[in-house]
Amino acid sequence: MIKGKVAELLVSTQYLQEVQVKGWVRSFRSNRFIALNDGSTINNLQCVIDFEKTPEDLLKRITVGAAIKVTGTLHESLGSGQKVEIQATSVEILGDADPEEVKLTILSPKRHSLEKLREQAHLRVRTNTFGAVMRVRSKLSYAVHSYFQQNNFHYVNTPIITGSDAEGAGEMFKVTSFDLKDVPKNEDGSVNYKEDFFGKETNLTVSGQLEGETYALGLGQIYTFGPTFRAENSNTSRHLAEFWMIEPEVAFCDLDGNMDLAEEFIKYVLKYVLDNCKDDLAFLEERLVGEDKSKPESERSPMTLIDKLRFVVDNNFKRVSYTEAIEILKNSKPNKKKKFNYIIEDWGADLQSEHERYLVEKHFKCPVILFDYPADIKAFYMRLNEDGKTVRAMDILFPGIGEIVGGSQREERLDVLKKKMAELGIDEEELWWYLDTRKFGTCVHSGFGLGFERLVQFTTGMSNIRDVIAFPRTPLNAEF
Ligand code: 4AD
Ligand code: MG
Repeated sequence: MIKGKVAELLVSTQYLQEVQVKGWVRSFRSNRFIALNDGSTINNLQCVIDFEKTPEDLLKRITVGAAIKVTGTLHESLGSGQKVEIQATSVEILGDADPEEVKLTILSPKRHSLEKLREQAHLRVRTNTFGAVMRVRSKLSYAVHSYFQQNNFHYVNTPIITGSDAEGAGEMFKVTSFDLKDVPKNEDGSVNYKEDFFGKETNLTVSGQLEGETYALGLGQIYTFGPTFRAENSNTSRHLAEFWMIEPEVAFCDLDGNMDLAEEFIKYVLKYVLDNCKDDLAFLEERLVGEDKSKPESERSPMTLIDKLRFVVDNNFKRVSYTEAIEILKNSKPNKKKKFNYIIEDWGADLQSEHERYLVEKHFKCPVILFDYPADIKAFYMRLNEDGKTVRAMDILFPGIGEIVGGSQREERLDVLKKKMAELGIDEEELWWYLDTRKFGTCVHSGFGLGFERLVQFTTGMSNIRDVIAFPRTPLNAEF
């Protein structure tokens, strides 16, 4: 007997073979046809039972959401939509799901809005959409490791609890430690806590970059891939308070090398998913086509999901300096419908997401790498250019997403770095270890950070970032 996963059985041709499979009931029609899903694929396996031979009380327990074990033989299916089916010889209920209670949840077989599904994030993985998104996410993670490992990058785990504010943006969750001795002591019921970590003020990491740099300047090329936290109180479809970031860092690499790396890496992971997630992508594409039908023609996507992914894999990203981008925006036409004026008059202003999307979606119509930004709107660690006013920064902007990558060549010159820190009031003593890297064998080096959820969003076509992570942490989704 083959104890199989639905994904394996669906492509098997071992007809008449005895098989056993466990999963959850997605639907049960005519007291005869069970659609079984076990999470291994978007597709359900049809299990046909002989209801005349099946006791009434067992039939009643084959309900949507129940966990069951089906034993039977594999047959070529005569029905449309599937190649094989199981003709069941026995069905065992492993876990019941009371239909009356199921009705009150998102497991009930009707269309639920994504907002509704978010309220039951613990159950939504049992829906087709989330199953597909989470499988694609998992494959993307694998591709991330596979790209870097194949290219001789070392995987480094940087601290989650840290004293450094790598981005200097002040968007940190402070780490507080309770003094357990004092817990019952306060009269008003409050407990004493210290805003510190064994005597040092700390926060949850906003980026592993600074620590990553120290490792690149020893291991040569490294990457991190871990949870990252930003205490930004923004409820947008692109921001999470807890997200996953991939941060490669490479010694002896300048900004051009950094752009090449980012472009090659993104193309690799998207190609991997195109090759290895065909059924899930086809499902997600279908879903978007359905969504598009309810929109006015002008708002529909010009390309299907899979074509969009192929387009990114097959075409060069456009590389444009910040200064050139400002020129393009100066000559742009205002968007009358959205009442947004894309024109930026001032060199030096930060680009808003509308500007970024104009450049990518309206002007270039392909992924864009913007580089050489004004020093004043970027972080302290970026390499100052000879002009004294721009830095070797790069942002990669994607259609429908906006910024997906932020990176730079790092300031490797100790004196220039110290001067910049002094200007921004960053304490040298706090970052003595970081400055050490510039004292002992400093070298040109570069890296970037890619927001993993934004990549998953692009790959799956999900419009809200909360729908590509298992348990979204945002100001409005704090219940888990
Ligand atoms: O541009 P950011 O802030 O860059 C850094 O943190 C650098 N230290 C990275 C580096 O050079 N090693 O963040 C990098 C990327 C962004 O481009 C975006 O994709 C993602 O991280 N990101 C977020 N994703 C989801 N929610 C948020 N709140 C995010 N903030 C940044
Ligand atoms: Mg950024």
